[in-house]
Amino acid sequence: MPRVLVVDRSERTRDAVAELLGETSEVVWAAREQAAGQLRAGIAGGRPFDVVLLEGEPAPSPQLVRELVTQGGGVRVVLAAATAGDGAALAARCGANDVVARPFAAAELVFRIARGGGPTERADKRRPRKSDVLIGTGPWIKELYDRIAMVAATDVTVAIFGESGTGKELVARTIHNSSPRHDAPFVVVNCAAIPEALLEDELFGHVRGAFTDATRDREGLLAAAHTGTLFLDEIGELPLPLQAKLLRVLQSQEFRRIGDDQDRRVDVRIITATNRDLDQLVARGAFRQDLYYRINVFPMHLPPLRERRDDIPLLVHHFIHKYRGRLGKPIDGLAAGALARFAVYDFPGNVRELENKVHQAMVVAPGPTIEEGDVALPADRPGAHVDVTRPFRELKQQVIDAFERDYLQELLRLHQGNLAAAARAAGMDRKNLWALVERHRLDRARYKKP
Ligand SMILES: Nc1ncnc2c1ncn2[C@@H]1O[C@H](COP(=O)(O)OP(=O)(O)OP(=O)(O)O)[C@@H](O)[C@H]1O
Ligand SMILES: [Mg+2]
Repeated sequence: MPRVLVVDRSERTRDAVAELLGETSEVVWAAREQAAGQLRAGIAGGRPFDVVLLEGEPAPSPQLVRELVTQGGGVRVVLAAATAGDGAALAARCGANDVVARPFAAAELVFRIARGGGPTERADKRRPRKSDVLIGTGPWIKELYDRIAMVAATDVTVAIFGESGTGKELVARTIHNSSPRHDAPFVVVNCAAIPEALLEDELFGHVRGAFTDATRDREGLLAAAHTGTLFLDEIGELPLPLQAKLLRVLQSQEFRRIGDDQDRRVDVRIITATNRDLDQLVARGAFRQDLYYRINVFPMHLPPLRERRDDIPLLVHHFIHKYRGRLGKPIDGLAAGALARFAVYDFPGNVRELENKVHQAMVVAPGPTIEEGDVALPADRPGAHVDVTRPFRELKQQVIDAFERDYLQELLRLHQGNLAAAARAAGMDRKNLWALVERHRLDRARYKKP
C-alpha cells in the first residue's frame, strides 16, 4: 500500500486526497517545514513514503524538491498545480517528477499517485515513464492540456497534426493515460513503417488457412487494443483498401479478419497522427474524404518548436534531468553560451532533435556543466540561426562571445593549456590572453596532458 505524504498549507487537503484514493493508500499530512522530517521519520521507522504530493503554490524551489527527494530516499514528488500546463512548467523548473491538476479528479490522482510508484508497483510497459511529461510554457501548452482534458474523458476520435518530432505520440499517450481507458492497452501502429502487404494482417489479423503461411489464427493489433486505445501514426500512408476497413471500424466498431467469414466487434478509441497535409491527399485521391471527416472530429495541431522558442530552455533542462540518471553522469546544468546555441537554432526535427542534441552534449561534456563547445548543431542555411527579433548589439555580443570561447577552447586544447605557447600561436599578448581565458572561466587544467 503506497504511503503518500501530502504537503500543503491546509490539513484538509489530506482528507480530500484520502477520500479520493480510498483504501488503496495511506495518506499523511505535513506542512512544508515538517515535510523533510516526516520523510526521515518514515525511513527511520522502516515505513518510507512512496510519494509526496506537494502544493504548487507558492512555487516550490528546486532546493525544496531536492531536499524532499534526498531526505525521502528518492521519493517521487508530484506537484499539485492549478492547471496541468502550468504545473508541467513548474515541475520542470523545480525538478518534481509529475503533476496533478487541482481540483483533484479521482482517476488522475490514482493514476499519478497510487499507481505512480512505490515498491509494490507492478512492471507496466504501457505506463509512461515519469520523464514523459508534456513540457511547455505559454498559452499554447495550457490550451493543449485543456484540450487533452476535454477529450480524454470521451471516446471521441482525435487527429493530431504536426511536423515530425513535435510530440504527436506523446500527446496521444497523454490522452490515453488521462482517459478512463488508462488501464487497458495503448497500441501503436506506424502505418508508414509496415510494408503494405503486411499491414492488413498486422492490423486486422487472420484466420487459420487464410493464406499459405497461416497455420493458426492471429489476432491483429486492433483486437489487441480492445477496451484501450489504438494510435495510428502516419495515417496518411494507410493504403486505400485499408482505409475502407478502418472507416468501417469507425462507423460500426466492426471488422473482419483476413479469411474470416464473420465480423468481429471491438471497443477501441482511435487516435491518428500525421505530418502530411490530408487535404492535399484527399484532393489527389490518395485519402478517402469520408474517412478524413471521420478521423477529424477533434483535431489537435502541434506547433513546430521554432515557433515556441520560449519552450527551449525548459525542454533542455527537462532532457538533462531525463538522461542524467541513465548516463550516470552528474551533469547539473549548462553554460549560458550552450543554451544560447540551442535558443537560436531552427530545429527542423523539433523536440526530438532537441532531445537528441541535449543527449549528445551530455555524452561528450567532460565536466558537470554542458559548455558551448559540447553542443553540436548542424550548419543550416545562412542566416537561419539569426534571431532578428533581438537587438543587434546583444546578438553580436553573443556571437563574439561564442567565437571567443570556441577559439580559446581549441587553442588551449592544441597547446595543452600552456598559456605562453598559446599566446605566441595566437599572436596575442600573454596577459590579454590570460584575461580572456579568465573572463570565459575556462579551466586551463582541463587541457593539460595527464
Ligand atoms: N512538449 C514536450 N515535452 C517533453 N517532451 C517532448 C515534448 N514534445 C516531444 N517530446 C519528446 O520528443 C520526442 C519526440 O516526440 P514524439 O515521438 O511524440 O513526436 P512525433 O510528433 O510523434 O514525431 P514523429 O513525427 O517523428 O513520429 C519524444 O521523446 C518525446 O517524449
Ligand atoms: Mg511519432
